[in-house]
Amino acid sequence: MVCSPNIVKIAVIGGSGLYNLEGLEVIEEVNPETPWGFASDKIVISRLPSGNKIAFLARHGRGHYLTPTEVPVRANIAALKSIGVEVIIAFSAVGSLREEIPPCDFVLPDQLIDRTRGLRPSTFFGEGLVAHAGFADPFHAGLSDLIAKHESALEFGAKLHTKKTAVCMEGPAFSTRAESHMYRSWGGDVINMSALPESKLAREAEIAYQMVCMSTDYDCWRENEEAVTVETVMMNMGNNGKNAKNLLHAILPDLEEAVTEGTLEPKIKGSMRFSGMTAKE
Ligand code: ADE
Repeated sequence: MVCSPNIVKIAVIGGSGLYNLEGLEVIEEVNPETPWGFASDKIVISRLPSGNKIAFLARHGRGHYLTPTEVPVRANIAALKSIGVEVIIAFSAVGSLREEIPPCDFVLPDQLIDRTRGLRPSTFFGEGLVAHAGFADPFHAGLSDLIAKHESALEFGAKLHTKKTAVCMEGPAFSTRAESHMYRSWGGDVINMSALPESKLAREAEIAYQMVCMSTDYDCWRENEEAVTVETVMMNMGNNGKNAKNLLHAILPDLEEAVTEGTLEPKIKGSMRFSGMTAKE
């Protein structure tokens, strides 16, 4: 029997180094068309040991063929929403802007600095419908706390850092040294090319969203250290992919319970209720 896909409450978005979820029974793949087109790839729906389902979407496509600017983020979030998703755990490779976050450590940011260049559609609103989502806290504190409890699932001596600030840049080229120093002076702890507009669109869609950052390099701010290259990033992606799966398998029982019982705080569902500005005729 093929189960209906419209009750998948938990989704994982995989970034560089995480292109599937291993060890789970795949039930089906879906590719819903949204008003913003199709998602980056088919959404893979698997069954968890509890019987609940989980959705997986490869942000850059399973062959990594979309640049960060090309990712159809509105379609990705809308497609996940259309199958019932209420919670997204989004993995992303990041460069570290801090000595104490070496490659292979994981980071749960709670703040975000937007350095994208206006090339990515970043709202579901407009064209006559005006609304302003609250975005002071761009990630989900409850999800972050739940994930942080499972640091011991990480192998290779990796640590999990919480309450850090992520910078999201446009790319696809990496930063200059001057930019890297500037981001550090602004309080940035990690840098990637994917946190926006994904986190913002998830908020507009009333989906609880937490990014899990996987450090791959020290960007280019460090004296006497080679600047980041794709080779450095890829060198650490193997360990990071393994740890992403370790962490997920550790958190899922707690996460399923919290989602089923509706105990995740703050509540994101309903948060857009008073954010519309457009007068009703
Ligand atoms: N993703 C991984 N490493 C990065 C870096 N140094 N800058 C931006 N995005 C990254």
